[in-house]
Amino acid sequence: MRKPALIVLALAALLSAEEPRFTPDNQMLRPEGYRQWVHVGSSLGMSYSEGAKPEKKNFHSVYLHPAAWTAYQKTGKFPEGTVLMMEIYSAGEQESINRAGAFANEFLRVEGAVKDSRRFDGGWAYFDFGGPVTGGLKDVSTAFAKERCWACHNEHAETDNVFTQFYPWLGPKK
Ligand code: HEC
Repeated sequence: MRKPALIVLALAALLSAEEPRFTPDNQMLRPEGYRQWVHVGSSLGMSYSEGAKPEKKNFHSVYLHPAAWTAYQKTGKFPEGTVLMMEIYSAGEQESINRAGAFANEFLRVEGAVKDSRRFDGGWAYFDFGGPVTGGLKDVSTAFAKERCWACHNEHAETDNVFTQFYPWLGPKK
């Protein structure tokens, strides 16, 4: 990474311990400590395209920033500044004493979703921070084009682009 980029990163980190954090050109900085946020849901082997049969099922694990969690409890709405992080793990089988079923095994990558209507057309933006399967975690990420991520979330997610129908205690099955 070039020096100016590093300086921008350091400054952005210093100026605000709050999440989400962005570079001046609206790249998102990978949030700190999101594994200690509110874990809202897990899924196994979900695929988003019709007829797809993934060869290997992965676990998805979704975390919601605590400030957004608190606001959502009170209002049923995701406030500006909401951040969700989704980690993807391989499914492990037949290890240790396990003879049936699967467990979240190796961390593969992590993605993020942010609600910030001032920065992003359509309110929400989506980011990929990579992980071991992409050659390492990224510190900063550029938002995907709307048709890559936003469009499906906007059309199919139950609550304001968030797939609460799959998050047991955010969705209708409380
Ligand atoms: C065809 C539909 C579809 C597309 C395209 C899509 N997603 Fe999702 N996304 C989902 C579904 C369904 C979930 C529910 C949770 C899961 O997958 O376990 C989800 C959940 C998420 C979450 C957790 C928070 C939330 O909004 O519920 C993040 C973060 C996320 N996706 C990032 C991305 C990124 C980044 C892209 C683009 C590279 C993307 N998604 C493209 C369907 C989609």
